[in-house]
Formats: sequence, structure tokens, C-alpha cells
Amino acid sequence: MNKIYKKIFAGFMSPALLCSVLSVSYASNQNSESTSFFTVDAEESSSSVVYSTGFEDGKNDFTGRGGVEVLKIVNNDSFSGTSCLECSNREKGWHGPWISLDNILEPGVEYIVSAKAKAQWYNNISLKLDYTDSSGNRHYIDVLSAVSEGNWIDMSNGKFIIPKNVTNAYLYFECNDTANIYLDDFEIKTAPVHEIQQNIPSLKDIYSSYFKIGGAVTTSELAPKSAQDLIKKHYNSLTPGNELKPESILDHAATIASGSETNPIVDISSAKEILDFCRDNNISVRGHVLVWHSQTPDWFFKEGFSDSGNWVSKEIMLQRMENYIKNVFAALETEYPTVDFYAWDVVNEAWLDNGSPRTGGGQSENPNYSAWVKIFGDNSFIEPAFEFARKYAPDGCKLYYNDFNEYMPDKTTAIVNMANELKEKDLIDGIGMQSHLDVDFPSASAYKKALKAFVDTGLDIQVTELDITTTDLTESGFKKQAQIYNEIMDACEEYADSISAVVFWGTTDDKSWRANKCPLLFNEDFSAKPAYYSIIEGHEIPNPTTPSPEYRKGDIDKDNLLTISDLVLLQKYLLKMYSLDELQYSLADMNSDNKVNVFDWIILKRIIIDL
Ligand code: GLA
Repeated sequence: MNKIYKKIFAGFMSPALLCSVLSVSYASNQNSESTSFFTVDAEESSSSVVYSTGFEDGKNDFTGRGGVEVLKIVNNDSFSGTSCLECSNREKGWHGPWISLDNILEPGVEYIVSAKAKAQWYNNISLKLDYTDSSGNRHYIDVLSAVSEGNWIDMSNGKFIIPKNVTNAYLYFECNDTANIYLDDFEIKTAPVHEIQQNIPSLKDIYSSYFKIGGAVTTSELAPKSAQDLIKKHYNSLTPGNELKPESILDHAATIASGSETNPIVDISSAKEILDFCRDNNISVRGHVLVWHSQTPDWFFKEGFSDSGNWVSKEIMLQRMENYIKNVFAALETEYPTVDFYAWDVVNEAWLDNGSPRTGGGQSENPNYSAWVKIFGDNSFIEPAFEFARKYAPDGCKLYYNDFNEYMPDKTTAIVNMANELKEKDLIDGIGMQSHLDVDFPSASAYKKALKAFVDTGLDIQVTELDITTTDLTESGFKKQAQIYNEIMDACEEYADSISAVVFWGTTDDKSWRANKCPLLFNEDFSAKPAYYSIIEGHEIPNPTTPSPEYRKGDIDKDNLLTISDLVLLQKYLLKMYSLDELQYSLADMNSDNKVNVFDWIILKRIIIDL
């Protein structure tokens, strides 16, 4: 039986408190018809050390990243014990000790690295991850950084993941200049694995009669199984956070090698993990983004596709633009014919808050400048971008203009005017409101005013990058954040006839681009925040405990048979060696108490033995 979610908190609680309360008491009914779904099964497995050295045994697996460094175990002034590693003869800041992870760590698993480090004199020491993706691009990911004033410093709890299908993964230390670097007590352990709360309502189900609910995700964010579970449970739309942006898919070497001045070659392998995941789990994709001033290399706009070339003419750039758009859609069609690319951001962030175009110029001059404006003189590149997208996009793929600060009145007007012109020519389908908000600005009513102005164009609207920051990380800060989320979602529901998707920019707070202001619906441990509960309030909730009619209770492996393998899966789940998806959870809940525990195992065991 469905139920309506009622506000069950006298006030909102801090996430930690909320979790503990939920785990002990929210199994009690909130109304006579309902069985409670508020048991928290976000459980944690402990971590285990996979590599550790204090260099006491005289062994060292680090080598010099620059090839010239001298690494040696020394027996004076170690942090602990008698030995530490000294890296001297560094000729550049990036020279330093690095350790290959290829045979130590598994891709897709989250790890925590800790070390004691020291620079010979005042220096900022960084610990970073270096790997090469399947298209041959090197990535340098910040893990930890701290200042040594010539003393030992603690660099601990740096989380990192090696994505799948990458090679040459290393952790490396570097510092500003050529000071010696010393290391001691270096350790890598697996990060605790948090299970998601399977037994809370799915956002995509709650909002299924209004619009799609989506999220953005990067390859590394998608790597842990819990993140995949969270996405599968709550989102039916996914936006690759970076992986389909021009800088990720333009293949510079292949473009140069082709000798063409007008045909940029693309390689979409950077989006492989995300698009494979969407294909395998039947999740629709928002493509992001074709034409943008940012995250697009300057060489794309220069003669000979060379950073040092002159800016090309408008005529050449139009051909490059057309071929780029054509090549992107062709590659997606060839490699992912079954994936539903239901929306694409054709142009991103072309208007300033005052309603004028950006200043023309390259990213190397100023990240706010636009090379498109540099070449076209103004925003006249927008219309051809939509023309080419219309020409090459697959049927059913809607085309959007997307922007941030979209509620700033002059920007709203500029977007509306542009959208109306493009609509008259049937080039645009919708407007994307990025919606990077803060609890203090803009007000929900100002946001709603802009939403109405966009709705009045008659175009489809998508909320494409929703997150709401708060600097107050106390219980009352999260309560206020929940309130604003509630108001924004209420506004979206009011205009639901014109809105086809609401997309959150991320999964858990710690992975957000604005992580220190905790802007999302889920905590680092994948538990739901007050903001999550605030946006399901008042909604009809499909009862999550009703198993699909296709399977009977206990058929956890969904093979239409009750066998020992169902029991084994349940046992593995209880031992935290296996996680259940939402349907499996309800199938495993033998006594329908909205919890899966040893009592269910006993019931299932009896049934299987009786059979
Ligand atoms: C903008 C872009 C997104 C992303 C965010 C920050 O909103 O449209 O692609 O880069 O900034 O993460």
C-alpha cells in the first residue's frame, strides 16, 4: 500500500544524530496504515591495511619520479623507529618519491593513504595520484597537502580511488622547490565501505509522475559500489560531470596527425565507465556540454590546432564547430547505440550576469574569457551551435541552453530573449537552470520568478546542476538547507508540466565540487541528510517492501527458485560480503519488518530445508 510521507521530525537533526536515532527508533509506525521504512542500513565495514612501511626492514619500494633523485634509507632523525626514507638530488619541484600502485591496489576500490613527511626547509608538500587513462591522458589528482617548516608533519586520511581501465597508477610526493623530502610511516588501507540506505524511498520513484531525477557523476566518484547503488536507487538520469566536455574528448594528437585544419578528432573513451554504467543499468544520459568557453583547450581555436598558432577565422571555426558536434554524436551513436541520450547542453554559460556576452579571449589569459567570442566578436556562435546540434543529434534528444546565476534578472532576460529567437527557428528545446544555490541566496521566490520567466517561453525546463551550499554545518544549518531544498522542489513541482528533469550536481557531500559547504542530499557515509527527507515530505511513497510480483519472497538471486544459493546470498549480505539491491532487499526481508537480519536468514533456511 502506498503512503504519504509525513514530517516526522520535531526539528531536523544533525546527520550523525539523525542516523543514530533512525537506526534505533524509526521502525515505529508513523500512522496506522504504514510500515516504517526508516531503518538505516548504511553500514560500515572496517578497513584493512594493504601496504605499510616505516623503512625499518631496510626495504624501499619508492623510486624517483624524475629519474635523477637519490633515494636512500637513512638512520637519523626518523619520525618513528630508527629509519626513514630520504629523497635528495631533486632538480625540480615535481621530482620526488613515487610508488607504483599497479600491483598493490585494485581499481575501483576506495583507499586511505597516510604518511609522515618532512621537507628539508619550509615547503608545501603535496601527495598526489598520477595515472594514465585509456585514451592515454595523464591525470594528476590532489590527495593531501600540508606545510612542513623543516619538521615532520602528519599527512593523514587522504582518500583516493584508481578508476578502472587506467594504467601506470602512482602515488607521489612533491614540494615547491628542490628541498630533500623525507618519508616515514607510509600506509595505505582500504576505506570503510558504507552501504547505502536501501530501505528509504527512491527519489526517482517519488518524483516519477513529475520529472526525471538525476545526478552528475565523475568517473572516480562512480567507482565505489556504494555510489553505484545510490545512483541506481535514486536517479534515472546521469550527467557525466567532466567526461563529455571538449577537453575530455578532443584528441589533440589524432587531430594534428590527421593534417586537417577543420576536422577535430574526438575520442569518447574518457566517458567509458559512466556510459557503460548507464547502458548496463538503463539510465538515461544528459550530455554535457558541446560549446563552452571553459574546459575547452585554446588550441581548438588556433591555426594548426596549435597553442602557439593565431586565432582561426570565423569561417574555419564554424567548420570546426560543425565537425566537432557531428563527430561527438557519431561516436556516441557508434559506441552506445542503446543508450538514451535524451538531452544535451549545446551551449553553456554564454551570458554574463549583466546580460552581455563574455570578453573574448583564451583560457590561458583568463578563465572567464571566451574564445568563441574572441573569434565571433559576440554571441553569434550560439545559433550555429544549435543548428549543427539539431542537424546531428539523434531523434528524441532535446537540446538545451544551460547557465548558472540564471536567476540574476539581466541574465534571465538575456537567456529568455535568446531562447525565444532560437525557438522561433525551432533550434532549441529547452533551458537548463544550473541552480548552484546557497541557503542565503537567491531566495526561493527570486528563483521561482526566473523559473516562471523560462517556463513562459513555452520551452522545456531542466534543473541541471542543483546543489545548495551552507556554511553553517550545525544541526540548524542543515535544517535551513533542508527548508530551502523543500522550497526549490516545491517550485519545481508547481511548474512540473514544463520541467522534464531535476538533476543534482553530485552524489555525496564529500565528492561535491563545493564539498566544504556540504551542498547535497547525502552524507559522506551515504546516509540521507535532512535535505533528502525535506524533499520527499508530502509525497506518495510507493511501498518499498512490496516485492515485484515476478519473484517470491526469499528468491534473492531472482531465478524464480528458492534454493541454497538464495540462502548463501543472504548469509553473504549479513557478513557484509555482498550488497543487496532494492528489490533483493525486499525479497530478503522474510518477516516484512523492513529490516534484513539474521531472523530473515533463519526463516529462509527453514523454508529451504522444508522444500
Ligand atoms: C558549471 C558547469 C559544470 C561544472 C560545474 C562545477 O556549472 O556547467 O560542468 O563544471 O560548473 O563543477
